[in-house]
Amino acid sequence: MTKPNTQPATGAGTRREFIKKATTAAAVVASTNLFKTPVYGQNQAPSPGRVIGANDRIVVGFIGVGKQGMAHVNSQKENAADNNISMAAVCDLSKYRVAEAQKTIGGGCKGYDDHRKLLENKDIDAVTIATVDHWHAGCGIDAVNAGKHVYGEKPMTRYLGEAFAYAEAVRNNKRIFQIGAQICSDASWQKAAELIKGGKIGPVILAQDSYPRNAPKGEWNYDIEAWATADDVNWDMWQKPVHHKTAFDKDAYFRWRKYYPYCAGTLGDLVPHRLHPLMLATGMPEFPTRVVALGNNPIHTDKNTPGTPERDVPEQIEIIAEFPSGLHILVTTSTINWNGLPSVIRGHKAVLEMGVDSVDLKPQKEFSEEIDPESYTHLVPSGQKIPEMEKNWFNCIRTNTQPYGNIELAVRVQTVIALAEMSQRLNVMCLFDEKSKKITTGDGKVLEALTYGSMGEKS
Ligand SMILES: NC(=O)c1ccc[n+]([C@@H]2O[C@H](COP(=O)([O-])OP(=O)(O)OC[C@H]3O[C@@H](n4cnc5c(N)ncnc54)[C@H](O)[C@@H]3O)[C@@H](O)[C@H]2O)c1
Repeated sequence: MTKPNTQPATGAGTRREFIKKATTAAAVVASTNLFKTPVYGQNQAPSPGRVIGANDRIVVGFIGVGKQGMAHVNSQKENAADNNISMAAVCDLSKYRVAEAQKTIGGGCKGYDDHRKLLENKDIDAVTIATVDHWHAGCGIDAVNAGKHVYGEKPMTRYLGEAFAYAEAVRNNKRIFQIGAQICSDASWQKAAELIKGGKIGPVILAQDSYPRNAPKGEWNYDIEAWATADDVNWDMWQKPVHHKTAFDKDAYFRWRKYYPYCAGTLGDLVPHRLHPLMLATGMPEFPTRVVALGNNPIHTDKNTPGTPERDVPEQIEIIAEFPSGLHILVTTSTINWNGLPSVIRGHKAVLEMGVDSVDLKPQKEFSEEIDPESYTHLVPSGQKIPEMEKNWFNCIRTNTQPYGNIELAVRVQTVIALAEMSQRLNVMCLFDEKSKKITTGDGKVLEALTYGSMGEKS
């Protein structure tokens, strides 16, 4: 097996060394502002969750055990001994899914049909939440208020107001929150953050990435399974936060990613997997100042799956976000063509080319005296592994430290996503003021953040 190479190629010279030291010192000063800007005050009593010692077993519950929820159940079961956890309970609005998850976990695992009942269980220290997007905030805020640590699937929330409320609840209750954007655990992104914080590429000016797919029959037209009936699924509860109410709708239950009342399409489904690592790599995640997005549906792929309605959400969308430091981030997503943009972070002095398990630092020719090329390959862990992200969360719960996908990163990413959705749907560029949380257009018009019931989604 090839050995990991984490040593950069080095080159020395008196002038070079001097310039490098000076640049590094400046960068360290610049990065000390990390997460120093509170979004909301701390005005609530701390939650009653127990303090977990280094050797204590962490008791976990699972809220939402559909496809991704079961990925967590299986991964945490496989690594239960290593992580020193026990799996005590599951909750879902489908009776079938509760029973299946209980069967998988075994050993007296409790089953619940309402997350609030699971959260009353004082034995449970931490919950993994993998519900539909429009329940992320509801379940997550209830969980941290009940003293539970949370691993919350991406996107952090359906809407922006919920993201601020969720972040406030996590801070007030001093819980450890990890966002389910598992690529954040890849060593390549940690290495990029280290290089950027060390001043190796100069001020970061433009970062780009893509999440493309190509689904001729319509992305997310998943199979509709026979067990899902109005008797099995508590549909009233499933659609509770949403104003657009319907009778039990199997298509929406399995294919909710296609419809705005339940999600933001690729902005919520795919973009978090690119924005979290990119913003983590900057070493200093910022709230955006301006966001614009452009999406459309040129192919109408749903027509190739008989019986399913056409999606509301775009088949392709590109977003550009600007940050106070001057950084621009460009992310493209597609469900109609596999070819995306290469993963690149551009600084004024050098560029980082990101691979799955590698980072190549390439100086701009004007700075080649000051900066040497560096190449890191076979970095581990790599491969966007959920178990790594879970392990990091458990370690952080034990050590009361912040995980890779912590709440301050997550709320900033969610702000970009929410503004991108507004830009696309309202046909505007969204300007954002971090202090006041006001969203305006370039001509000074104030925009209300989208929320449940916006855009004509009827009560
Ligand atoms: N990190 C990743 O790579 C990744 C991959 C897939 C999905 N996800 C995320 O995971 C989440 C779930 O996706 P999925 O594909 O598993 O969807 P899914 O529809 O298969 O499963 C969602 C489950 O949540 C249940 N549910 C809904 N509201 C609930 C509530 N209030 N309480 C308890 N259960 C509730 C549903 O009955 C369903 O069983 C989504 O937010 C998605 O974005 C993340």
